[in-house]
Formats: sequence, C-alpha cells, structure tokens
Amino acid sequence: MPHENIHNEENLGKVYDWKLMKKVLRYILPYKKLFVLATVFLLLSSALQLLVPYFFKLGIDKYIDDKTIPDDSRISGVMYLAIIIVAVLFIKTICEYGHVIVTQIMGQRAMLILRTQTFEHLNKLSLSYFDKNPVGRLVTRVTNDVEAINEMFSTILVASLKDILMFFGSIVVLLMLDWRLALISFSLLPVFLIVAMIFKKKVRRVFRDIRKYLARLNAMLTEDISGVKIIQAFRQEKRRREDYYKTNLNYYNAGIKQLVVFGIFRPLIDVITSVSTALVIVFAGISIMHSTMSIGTLVAFLLYIGYMFGPVVNMTQRFNIIQSSMAAAERIFNLLNEKPEIQENISTAGSHSESKGLVEFENVTFGYTEETDVLKNVSFKIEPGKSVAIVGPTGAGKTSIINLICRFYDTNSGIVKLDNSDVKNWKFEDLRKHVAIVLQDAFVFSRNVADNITLGDENISNEKLMHAAKMVQADSFINKLNDGFDEIMAERGATLSAGQRQLICFARALAHDPKVLILDEATSNVDPATESLIQNAIETLMKGRTSIIIAHRLNTIKKVDEIIVLDNGQILERGSHEKLFAQKGIYYNLCLMQYGKEIESETVTT
Ligand SMILES: Nc1ncnc2c1ncn2[C@@H]1O[C@H](COP(=O)(O)OP(=O)(O)OP(=O)(O)O)[C@@H](O)[C@H]1O
Ligand SMILES: [Mg+2]
Repeated sequence: MPHENIHNEENLGKVYDWKLMKKVLRYILPYKKLFVLATVFLLLSSALQLLVPYFFKLGIDKYIDDKTIPDDSRISGVMYLAIIIVAVLFIKTICEYGHVIVTQIMGQRAMLILRTQTFEHLNKLSLSYFDKNPVGRLVTRVTNDVEAINEMFSTILVASLKDILMFFGSIVVLLMLDWRLALISFSLLPVFLIVAMIFKKKVRRVFRDIRKYLARLNAMLTEDISGVKIIQAFRQEKRRREDYYKTNLNYYNAGIKQLVVFGIFRPLIDVITSVSTALVIVFAGISIMHSTMSIGTLVAFLLYIGYMFGPVVNMTQRFNIIQSSMAAAERIFNLLNEKPEIQENISTAGSHSESKGLVEFENVTFGYTEETDVLKNVSFKIEPGKSVAIVGPTGAGKTSIINLICRFYDTNSGIVKLDNSDVKNWKFEDLRKHVAIVLQDAFVFSRNVADNITLGDENISNEKLMHAAKMVQADSFINKLNDGFDEIMAERGATLSAGQRQLICFARALAHDPKVLILDEATSNVDPATESLIQNAIETLMKGRTSIIIAHRLNTIKKVDEIIVLDNGQILERGSHEKLFAQKGIYYNLCLMQYGKEIESETVTT
C-alpha cells in the first residue's frame, strides 16, 4: 500500500489537462467581476507593450531619420514621443500589476476555500480510509498540494496567458509591418519549437526524478523523526544515516542533471534567436539600401522578434511547474471525490435527543477486510444502566465491538442497535453524543487541560469539569502543573505520562455525561494504587449508565453485571464473575493465570 502512495506522489500528470483546469477554475467562478477585471488588465498590458516598438519606429522614421523637416521640430517630436512611450510603459506596468494582484487574490481565495474543504472532507472520511492512507501523505495533500495549485494560478493564469497573447500578438504585428520579412523571421521557429519539445521531454524525466527523491527524503525524515527513540535505543543512527545519504545523493544528482539540461537549453535558444535576428538584419539591410524599408521598421522588427521568442522560452521553462501543479490538483480532487464509506442516512435518521442506553448486537459479523472476519455471529444485549465487561486475549475483537457501537465501521451482516434502533438510523451527532469512549491509546490535543476535557463544549460548566477531574483522580497531578487546568499540552500530550494521559481522557468521557460509557483498557497505564481509586470512581460513574468495560486486569471487573469472554471473534462464555468462576472454564483459567495463588485462596473463601 505505501508503494502505491509513493508512486502517487511521483506521478507527474499532463501539462494541460483541461478537465482538471475546469475543476480548478470552478473555484474562481464566484469572482466573475474580478476575473473580468483581470482579463481587461491583461489585454491592456499586452496591447500597450505591443505598442512600444511601434512608437520607436515612428520616432526613427518620422523624426530621427527624416532630414526634410527642421531640426527643432525633429527634437521636439522625439521628446514628445519619448514622453508618450514613458506614459505608455507606465500605464502598462500598472495594468500588469493589476493583473497579477487580481489574479493572485482570486487564487488565494480559491486556496482558502480548497484548504477548508479538504480539511473538512478529511474529518468526515470513515476510519477505513485512514487505515489505508498514511498520515504523512494526507498532511502533504492539504499543505503542499493545495499550495501547488496556487502555483498553477500564478504560472498559468498570470504568466502563461500573457505569454500566449504576446506570442500571437507579435506574430500578427510582424506580419502587418512587413509580411516577407516576417516570414523570414519565422523560418527558424520550427527548429526552435523542436528544440523546445526535446528540452521539455528531457526536463520531464529529470524533474520526475527530482520529485521522486524529494518525496522519499521527506518520507524518511518524517518516519525517522517520529521513531527517533527507537533509532537511538537500537543504535540505528549509522544505518539510517547511510540510507538517507544514498537518497540524498540521488536527489543531488538529479538536481545537477536539471542544471545541465537547462544549461544546454538556454545557449541553444540564444543561438537560434541570434541566427533569426541576423537573417532579419541581412534582408532588412538590403531592403533599406534599396529604400523599400525604413530603419524604424527594422528596429521595431527586432524588438517584436524578442517578444515572439521570449514567451516560448518562458513557457518551456515553466512546464515542470505546470506539470507538478496539475498532478497536485489531480490528487486533491481525488481526495475530495473520496466518499465516506460510512454514510449518515439522512432520510431514515430520526431525531434522538434522549437515549435509554440499550445496546444490542444481533448476529453481527464484521471484518476490516473482506478476507477475514474479526467478529463472527456475535449477539448480546445490555439493558439500560447495566454494566458489561468484555475480556479475551489480544486480537480477540474487543475494540472492534466498540468501533461498531460508535459506527466507525459498518457490520458485514447483522445489526448493532441502540435503543432498539439500528445505529444506521441514528444521526452521527446523536449517536456519538450519547456514547462516550476512553480509548486504548489515550489521545491528548495540543490545547490546555481544560479544553482537552471539555473539547470546547460550552454545556460543560467549570464545576462539572473540576468534578470530573476529581472523580477520576486527575486533579492532583493537574494542580501540580505550572498553569493547572490552563497548562497547554505538548503535541499528543508528549510531556505527560501514559497514565496521566489516560486520566485526562477519562475525565473527558465523564464530563460529557454519556448514557453509554465505554472504557477500552482505560486503567491499564495507571499504577495499582491509582487504579483502585479510579475503580471506586468507575463504580459511582457507572450508576445510571450503560457501561462496557474492556480490561485485561480481571480484578477490575469483578463487580460488573455480566462478563463476556471473547476469543477469535466469538463469544465463548458469559455470565457474572461468580457464575463464570464456578464454571471453571476459560474465564476461570484466565483468572488463574493472572492471580494464581490469590485465586486459589479465593476459591477456598467463596
Ligand atoms: N484498522 C484495522 N484494519 C484491519 N484489521 C484490523 C484493524 N484493527 C484491528 N484489526 C484486526 O482485527 C482483529 C481484532 O482487533 P481488535 O482491535 O478488536 O482486538 P482487541 O481484542 O481489542 O485486542 P487488544 O486486547 O490487543 O486491544 C485483530 O486481528 C486485528 O489485527
Ligand atoms: Mg483493543
């Protein structure tokens, strides 16, 4: 799977993909007025720029070279023209500036919307999507790829449009000035275009390598930094450095290759333009000697030839930027097209402002992939207010049961119900409001402690927050923090101990006052003393709520109403602690393994 993704990053895309362009342009559709303004600026600036050589021609032919009129008039005429030229150039610059600014504003607005859309969309996608797509790539998508589309605005809509206008504009003006000379100056254009095509091909290959190695370098960097502890602990620094160096060297070589290709291209283009210019000078010279052409026309011609070749050079050099932004756009739109696998069924979803907390599984079979079933025909019912513990070995499917109750995934067959109604008929909002979970891997956001507990819910008062923290014994360590509840947490709560992180998540679930409380190994990381304190809290907490507790340490679950023993996705035993213990089956053996001697004595006492 990761290979597919790396490949995805290296995909270059087409240079001009109109379907894709249209999708991008849809984002500037709301700004029709700005678009018209930008076009007006563009047309004006191009037209004005095309005028300038013509003024030169006028100046030379009418005043500088015309000895039939008095010197005074010639000087004032040249001065007059010079002022006009400066004025025209000035207005042209303003129009250019206007075009750039207006287009960039549209681009930035489109980015603003696109970034929010991708973020929103990512938050909506089902968990199965994240099982398949590495986080690093997704982050790249929202940041770099959106930025690359912005590049598309500045390169295509700003620079390339101007270049195209200038290219065709100069051809038309050249033909109008003197069509024979124009045809001579075009004679090398095919050679020019062939060179540009070859260059484009070469650059494409080099550029693909550059992107490929850069993506690999970034991937290595992200992975190594997140795994730095393991790298140091297992003394992998040298190995990793060598690996990194190899890719880094490849990246360097690709960079050099790019320089070489560009290094050949530029002079070659200069040679071709020089030859064209020389041809024009020779033929124009002859015409001027025969008085069939003016010097002014020659000067204007030379300037227009520059206008004609310049844009082609620019466009060729811009190919790679355009290609990579097209590829980026494609990736972004693919992401936006990704439908969440789990969809809220708006038509059947009724409103459930209250919940009784009745949880039921009816012949549920489920697997993350099609090949393997993780839960097999599982059925159970938890009456409102009752507590159930699920025990079983690692990989038995305990967490998967929770995933189904919260509808992070859908069953393959069978029904998961809350309050006698299929969870598929619940709005996500309602379902998840009534169910609170403390996950196995406690997640803490990089906000302050209070926000981490309330998650910004304004219905949770300060007292409720404090009470929740106190109930789970989190208050003592929070109060020891420099800023107490206002202390900002490091990313993923890196500065807390694993147990402290769990306590915060615990307080979070409690503060949200759910009807169904789910604890997945919630106390596995706290010390036995704290655990027994929390144990009391849990018992008070469970009152009036349906609770599902997953625990490996069996002494924490003795008091639940029912214990479900799960193995390999199937329910093997169920009943109260006393019943299962007396049954001397799997549960009994699990207890024996964990508490050996104590149990023996307990058997004697019970
Ligand atoms: N996101 C996933 N994608 C694919 N397979 C998964 C995924 N999550 C879990 N599994 C598989 O499903 C099975 C059950 O996993 P589950 O997390 O429910 O186990 P568990 O009983 O909670 O184990 P533990 O006690 O270690 O937490 C395992 O075999 C696991 O490999
Ligand atoms: Mg689990």
